[in-house]
Amino acid sequence: MKVSVKVPATSANIGPGFDCMGLALPIYNIVTVEETVLPGTGIDINILSGDLDDLSLDQIPLDENSIIYKAIEVLYNSIGQTPSELRITVNTSIPLTKGLGSSSSVIVGGLIAANELLGRPADKAALLSIATEIEGHPDNVTPAIVGGLVIASQEDDGSVIYRKINWPDEWQITVCIPDFELSTDIARSVLPQEVPLKDAIFNVQRVGLFIEAVNAKDADLMKVALKDRLHQPYRTKLVPGLSEITENLRHEDNVLGCVLSGAGPSLLVFSHKNSLDKIKSIVRDTWSQMNVKADIRTLPVEQNGAVVLQQDD
Ligand code: HSE
Repeated sequence: MKVSVKVPATSANIGPGFDCMGLALPIYNIVTVEETVLPGTGIDINILSGDLDDLSLDQIPLDENSIIYKAIEVLYNSIGQTPSELRITVNTSIPLTKGLGSSSSVIVGGLIAANELLGRPADKAALLSIATEIEGHPDNVTPAIVGGLVIASQEDDGSVIYRKINWPDEWQITVCIPDFELSTDIARSVLPQEVPLKDAIFNVQRVGLFIEAVNAKDADLMKVALKDRLHQPYRTKLVPGLSEITENLRHEDNVLGCVLSGAGPSLLVFSHKNSLDKIKSIVRDTWSQMNVKADIRTLPVEQNGAVVLQQDD
């Protein structure tokens, strides 16, 4: 039996919502898991670079240390089984180590495919909980599973509570992907274990304002709400161009804000429809002065989460 699952890219944090807000984007990885017929074939993992020309693909472990294998193993183990004869293929279009949820996509794709192979022992709530446990936070895996813009928390019992928020169609999201990489492990290692109370209060205020700004489509409120003091100030030194791009965009009336996508190094620029060309050239030119090339795309929020594409017996 063989199952393919299409999983969207995701952008986490969205300014103040560190480890709790994220949105899905229309860039996809396709994860295929197949039970091989010949006994003793073991686990065979293949990464195929869809439309990616990405050297970092070579760094992905293709054995039992692979995060996708670990995700599949957790699901098998949850019903007392061990995966033994599987061919796993990931067809990637989500750039790796760019802050666009590539690891979440393979965790989610692996879990959903394994769940189908095993006759769906896990419901959506269980998949959310397992995926969050593996990833460590719910802000990428939740939109990868349910789509849209979400705010999510993981409770002490492991369950994930989330709500979708409607992103205003008239607000544009421009995803700016530089040609350098930043691993999430490194980007998390620079964060302090404790933060000043005033910074925690600052972010709590902004998350509240963010929800109201989106619901009321209030652009002035959004400009205030997109600020963050919990992760971006510590990561700025790891992302050449972040402070310069933010500063250069600050003078553009149509820009609502510029934030790190997840742990970076990609950036999201939120804006009104007009001035998109100007915004793109500001980002491109600022990075270009630092010899950084960028792939810049204006994309809608993907409203669908992961979908099972194909199931062959
Ligand atoms: N919230 C996470 C972070 C997203 O910023 O580290 C990246 O996995």
